[in-house]
Amino acid sequence: MSNEDRRFLFLLGSSRPDGNTELLARKAAEQLPAHVAQRWISLTEHPLPDFTDLRHPRQGGNHARPESDAAALLLEATLEATDIVIASPLYWYSVSAQTKRYLDHWSGWLRTPGVELKATLAGRTLWGVTALAHEEPSAADPLVGTLRNSAAYMGMRFGGVLLGNGSRPGDVLRDTGALARAKTYFTQEPPLATFPYEDPTPAP
Ligand SMILES: Cc1cc2nc3c(=O)[nH]c(=O)nc-3n(C[C@H](O)[C@H](O)[C@H](O)COP(=O)(O)O)c2cc1C
Repeated sequence: MSNEDRRFLFLLGSSRPDGNTELLARKAAEQLPAHVAQRWISLTEHPLPDFTDLRHPRQGGNHARPESDAAALLLEATLEATDIVIASPLYWYSVSAQTKRYLDHWSGWLRTPGVELKATLAGRTLWGVTALAHEEPSAADPLVGTLRNSAAYMGMRFGGVLLGNGSRPGDVLRDTGALARAKTYFTQEPPLATFPYEDPTPAP
């Protein structure tokens, strides 16, 4: 896909505005060419209802297409994006509740008549940006795994997760390693995501 056709959707999953995750995501986004479309949506300002699982016939089967609420906005934005950036702080070692609820709604949209979520997202790219207080990046492995496996399930590419350190808002701007990684994060051409068990055996 040429850059002219790229449309980035940034989904902000923090419970506070102007936090470290958003700051880091904005640093990475600054590097995108001007002609690449950017759309920013706060999942806190557009709260989704708790997801109700209607997948199986006893509960009725299909999920109706949302029409006039946060779900409609987020579904439309999701279908439009070529690149979805999950910008969630690390909460209890994984994504925030707002972010998780958004991902849970994918399960409904996968079964919404006329939506074709999986076919639409296949080949598109899932990215992740997170801020965490922990000094060791591996503390974010559950979040990374959630996004990687979700991308693999959807047949998407996965750009990995841009990690930054910080506790108070603004701290991440002192994480020089994160700022350096932000400069090149979106220049990658990520491969299709795989589940960990599908990884080719490394050469001896
Ligand atoms: C509910 C909650 C859970 C958190 N859990 C973790 C955690 O598991 N590991 C960690 O390193 N930091 C944790 N933190 C700290 C945040 O990740 C850190 O403050 C981060 O900078 C917040 O991002 P934000 O500024 O974008 O909101 C948690 C903070 C909150 C409010």
